[in-house]
Amino acid sequence: MTFVLRSAVATTVTVLAWARRTTTCASSQFTFVSSAQPSEIGTMDLGSMRKSYREDQEAFEENQLASLDPIEQFTTWLQEAVDCPSIGEANAMCLATSTRDGRPSARTVLLKGVGQEGFRFFTNYDSRKGKELASNPWASLVFYWEPLNRQVRIEGQVEKVSKEESEHYFHTRPKCSQIGAAVSRQSEVIPDREYLRKRKIELEELYQDKEIPKPESWGGYTLKPDVLEFWQGQTNRLHDRIVFRRLREGDAPPGPMTHHAKGDWVYHRLSP
Ligand SMILES: Cc1cc2nc3c(=O)[nH]c(=O)nc-3n(C[C@H](O)[C@H](O)[C@H](O)COP(=O)(O)O)c2cc1C
Repeated sequence: MTFVLRSAVATTVTVLAWARRTTTCASSQFTFVSSAQPSEIGTMDLGSMRKSYREDQEAFEENQLASLDPIEQFTTWLQEAVDCPSIGEANAMCLATSTRDGRPSARTVLLKGVGQEGFRFFTNYDSRKGKELASNPWASLVFYWEPLNRQVRIEGQVEKVSKEESEHYFHTRPKCSQIGAAVSRQSEVIPDREYLRKRKIELEELYQDKEIPKPESWGGYTLKPDVLEFWQGQTNRLHDRIVFRRLREGDAPPGPMTHHAKGDWVYHRLSP
């Protein structure tokens, strides 16, 4: 992994124009209205909630791509998000998985590394996502960096990280996180919080002077991307969408509006 994310702490504070924009949570943006139906309880009308994004002169044009390698383009945007003081966890991403028969589920996980091999995250293989990935390796990631008006969507198949690499990363985590992973049979029904507290105390005593073994079911995945879409929001809603797709053997040749990028990647612009 070329871009390793152990902690999402902003390193350099680059003060750009976007960083000066207000990002406070204006409660006035929400309007609670009572339903016209007297039998219904109040609803939250968000129809008028609309944020200004960027103006046309700040559009994301093809000649502003940092690279024709989509992974390099991604790491450029990720670095800008890490450097943005108002983004607390630039490496937080939505991971969508699906059962083999097409029932989707999504949740937030943290990106822990990215490079030409793909996007790496760690979790419990027996969790809901782990079971879904075991039966259907196709997954999708979404980053939304709100102060930058940017979204990146990624699609591909996952592979498990080697046991050695998972072991190595597990032992770099703080001891309390290692205990937490050992305590939690992620996604299983438990009686109450007390159950977790007791289990945590038991394991803390057991491993007081010993290395905590990585739970068998805990480890990493690498999502190997086939598609990356870079989206930048425009106030006039004519948003920019530049999509990179990996050309596979047997794929139809690229059309006239699709351009060759680095390696086996091609790119084109989509209508917003
Ligand atoms: C900001 C944030 C970061 C998270 N990071 C992770 C993570 O890296 N790995 C993980 O397994 N769960 C992470 N979670 C918890 C997941 O969202 C989710 O609750 C958990 O993985 C169980 O999901 P599942 O039942 O769909 O498998 C994170 C949640 C939040 C809000």
